Amino acid sequence: MLLKLTILPGDGIGAEVTEQAVLVLQAVAEAFGHQLQLERKLIGGAAVAAANDPLPAETIQACLSSSAVLLGAVGSPAFDDYPRHLRPEAGLLRLRRELGAYANLRPAVCFPALVDSSPLRAEVVRGTDILIVRELLGGLYFGEPRSIAGEAGSRVAVNTMAYDEPSIERIARVAFDLAMKRRRKVLSVDKANVLECSRLWREVVTRCSKDYSGVQLSHMYVDSAAMSLVQHPGDFDVVLTENMFGDILSDQAGGVVGSLGLLASASVGGRVGLYEPVHGSAPDIAGKGIANPLGAILSVAMLLRHSFQLGNEAACIENAVNETLNQGFRTADLARGDEKPVSTSAMGYQVVEAIVRSGALKARESI
Ligand code: IPM
Ligand code: MG
Repeated sequence: MLLKLTILPGDGIGAEVTEQAVLVLQAVAEAFGHQLQLERKLIGGAAVAAANDPLPAETIQACLSSSAVLLGAVGSPAFDDYPRHLRPEAGLLRLRRELGAYANLRPAVCFPALVDSSPLRAEVVRGTDILIVRELLGGLYFGEPRSIAGEAGSRVAVNTMAYDEPSIERIARVAFDLAMKRRRKVLSVDKANVLECSRLWREVVTRCSKDYSGVQLSHMYVDSAAMSLVQHPGDFDVVLTENMFGDILSDQAGGVVGSLGLLASASVGGRVGLYEPVHGSAPDIAGKGIANPLGAILSVAMLLRHSFQLGNEAACIENAVNETLNQGFRTADLARGDEKPVSTSAMGYQVVEAIVRSGALKARESI
């Protein structure tokens, strides 16, 4: 198969982790006989610096004419004082919208080798396997009006949370469909005791659930869900929620399973899927070669599975990551006590090696 991808390294550790993810992609393509056509483009602060636009037209065009997009991260403190449309994050938000990527899937899985990397007790976190389904094109991120206006000292800032029934329904269906392939539980997270958006959300989600009699639906307020997530992470299966709540809960889920650096994501539903690690640009460690590339590497697995239906290739990457962790390799975010951390590229190298080994094994078996 020909895999035509746009690669957007972006800012901060984005470039370092994407580089390793691409090496892993190349190893898998080689092992399974696929051809890669990769085009690298600018996004975020890197694009503002080069073209005064966090999402240049050339980048959008490349993304729209490829089959999937792999992104590193956007964001840098250098742009903190820039107007909103020139901030790196604006590029990512516009890209999500241009691609029509309304469904953001964020798995948070506790790898057996990492039960002791979680700040939670091993018996609490063991077996955690959560899929956060975050609505990605609505809510406070995109609602109008939005502004900061008025005289200095008495300025007023406004953001708008808005959701219409079709956008709630389409994300709810994604969550229910995915739950059917998992443990058949959907927890819808809202703030229906306070927000109109959440009341409509709960009503529409409940109505949709009637079409999925095999799936058990429950509801929780976001404050209570946040607490429960650290108390009983193992009870969660699919978590369905709106944009901002999903942003917050997914970072929390990263902390629960040991490191945000492990989390991958897929933003799908539109014409072209967008895949990115959840961690962001981490300017404090950028350029040091110590970032965890596994979130980006696991995003490649999601890309192969969701954009190309290449389930075996995706599983091959996931197994390689699992094996690398079982062998004891840890980046700085995962290392504990006297464990000696490995670099970003050493971690990537180990995953590539594990893929090559499994490919060689398969080739031998087929003789
Ligand atoms: C994420 C990030 C983004 C978001 C930022 C960088 C705009 O935090 O993907 O979780 O808030 O969606
Ligand atoms: Mg976030």
